[in-house]
Amino acid sequence: MARCLITGVAGFIGSALARAVLAQGDQVRGIDNFATGKRENLGEILTQMDFRQVDLLDLEALREACVEVDYVLHEAAIPSVPKSVLDPLGSNRANVDGTVNLLVAARDAKVKRVVYAASSSAYGDTPTLPKREDMTPNPISPYAVAKLASEHYMISFYRCYGLETVALRYFNIFGPRQDPPSPYSGVLAKFITRMLRGEQPAIFGDGEQSRDFTYIDNAVEANLLACKAPAGQAAGQVFNVATGRRVTLNETFELLQGLTSYTGQPGYGPERGGDIKHSLADIAKAKAGLGYKVEVDFEEGLRRTVQWYRGR
Ligand code: UD1
Repeated sequence: MARCLITGVAGFIGSALARAVLAQGDQVRGIDNFATGKRENLGEILTQMDFRQVDLLDLEALREACVEVDYVLHEAAIPSVPKSVLDPLGSNRANVDGTVNLLVAARDAKVKRVVYAASSSAYGDTPTLPKREDMTPNPISPYAVAKLASEHYMISFYRCYGLETVALRYFNIFGPRQDPPSPYSGVLAKFITRMLRGEQPAIFGDGEQSRDFTYIDNAVEANLLACKAPAGQAAGQVFNVATGRRVTLNETFELLQGLTSYTGQPGYGPERGGDIKHSLADIAKAKAGLGYKVEVDFEEGLRRTVQWYRGR
């Protein structure tokens, strides 16, 4: 039985990972500072894990959290492009300083492997699609810079100290438990909750921007595969985690009209600063290196997500 330390365990992705790790019979130690995570995301699994309220800026607490840990799944972050534009220092502290602290603690505790929640935002607004891992990154927002910097720290700790690290560049992960709508929530969580209440969703720009929206189960599977993949294929590497298909916000809105019975139109407003226009992944490297495949496609993911929000 392995022991996994999940950072950001009370978040949308962290709590889904915890459920999957427990379901395969392994142990979970989870940390969260509740900056964006919610205790309610843990629900029934809180008593099945070793939960600690810890901030990534507390190195001593991280050292204790890493004792006898096999794998670290590092999801904790302030995961918002617009928030980072407003507060670049806060973004850097949580997304970079916190990551370096965790890497030092994991290295000293001789953890087997650290898997990192990197971001497709690192690619920025380069015209070439799909995005491949060997393209030169061109981040726009402070958030994207922070995520890319931490990705480089992952690779550095492998090269300098031999700590096995794997960076997974998530492309717009969505699904149950994604932030209830705040100004910083992901677009699908906002669209779905608004449309189910019969309220008009807001589209920033013309709605022709596109994303490779990826259902949460695919990201969870990628993490489990990244723990087990042979070091020669995975350690010190970066992998896209996505579906290899993009949809526009306008298309997404239409699909959601069918699923939520919302009959109105979206409200169009100005584009959001720091945004990229299009995002689409090439997932060949993850397929070859991790054995990754898309388990749940976009439409099925949307259906499951709408169903979950409807049940709340
Ligand atoms: C998202 C993630 C980020 C992740 C990145 C790559 C969130 C909050 N952010 O960033 O952590 O690193 O994907 O995987 O999940 N929009 C609207 N109306 C709204 C909200 C957003 O039109 O009410 C638009 C935005 O302007 C943008 C698009 O929808 O064009 C997607 O925005 P968002 O869901 O915030 O995701 P990303 O910025 O792509």
